[in-house]
Amino acid sequence: MSFPEMRSCLDLIKPYVPGKPVEEVERELGLSDVIKLASNENALGPSPLAVKAMQENAAKMHIYPDGNCYYLKEALAAKLKIKPDQLLFGNGSDEILSFLTLALINPGDEAVMVAPSFSEYDFAMRLMGGVPRLVPLVGSEFAYDFDAILAAINNQTRIIFICSPNNPTGSHIQGAEFEKFLGKLPDKVLVVLDQAYIEYVTDPGHPDGLNLIDKGFPVIALRTFSKIFGLAGLRIGYGIASSALIAGLNRVREPFNVNAMAQKAALAALSDTAHLEHSVALVEQGRKMFSAGLSALGLKPVPDQANFCFVDLGVDSRQAFQTLLLKGVIVRTGDIFGYPTFIRVTYGTAEQNERFLAALKEVLADLK
Ligand SMILES: Cc1ncc(COP(=O)(O)O)c(C=O)c1O
Repeated sequence: MSFPEMRSCLDLIKPYVPGKPVEEVERELGLSDVIKLASNENALGPSPLAVKAMQENAAKMHIYPDGNCYYLKEALAAKLKIKPDQLLFGNGSDEILSFLTLALINPGDEAVMVAPSFSEYDFAMRLMGGVPRLVPLVGSEFAYDFDAILAAINNQTRIIFICSPNNPTGSHIQGAEFEKFLGKLPDKVLVVLDQAYIEYVTDPGHPDGLNLIDKGFPVIALRTFSKIFGLAGLRIGYGIASSALIAGLNRVREPFNVNAMAQKAALAALSDTAHLEHSVALVEQGRKMFSAGLSALGLKPVPDQANFCFVDLGVDSRQAFQTLLLKGVIVRTGDIFGYPTFIRVTYGTAEQNERFLAALKEVLADLK
């Protein structure tokens, strides 16, 4: 007995390389007190209000969730000053990426995306037999080259993925330049503006995306509760777009795609501005600590507007990763993004940042 052939487009999917879980490293290396600075999570954890909401609702989990996320949708729409039907929730914003390609991509259709960037754009395209077209980011600051992106568009292009701040580089786009670029797009191309880290942005020139949707540009903005809201384990993210696009995407959504606990926690987290402010301040402190600590080691991180740092160590990042691991610090290697001497490190608490910087100093002394 054999099973049917898998669709051939699946052969082109590269398996996702997640950050190594703390428990796995502790188990494998016999360590305790391991710190993970590898997945751009919030070192403060979730808002206490979200934790309370989860505790209060734990006994109600025999009931299916509200497939429409009504209360969360109303609250978020009011906060963003948009209509509730401009919002779509997903099991993480990852799921919205899949909705987009499920709804828009036929085999052979193309999407333009920058390199290096978030791997799930490639995954979502490949899943549908779509073809990613890569445009490199430019210079030591990994800037977007919008002319090159425009030049990569052809008759098959359906989607352009723009990630700002970009994972893994932390680099970001400017609103004025982005709007000019949108004005030059051909008809029937959708721009996916991934804003997973937008809450950390301090540059007033960065686009919030919502005014562009308002102006009628073909844009969907993606955001998440996994990063600053500290709810990555619950899996909840959302898309913001015109009501018409959201209605179309809703057709490919499973009825209960966002779990009830996630909806309760996200609703509570939204109202906790103190937690958000504290989280932003922690990242700003982390950026300063890294900048000083790395410069003392002769290293220059890529300027970022996110909660992580991308830096060229000038040595094999896999070796650096392994040695850091032995010291109980988990980071992300740059080879998975095509930058084998870089690492990506999430800003943690002051204590975690100090521990990373001290460990890195020892590792570089060994490897250089
Ligand atoms: C740029 C970017 N977009 C989307 C995501 C996925 O977020 P979620 O946890 O909401 O699926 C991530 C997570 O690392 C990310 O870095």
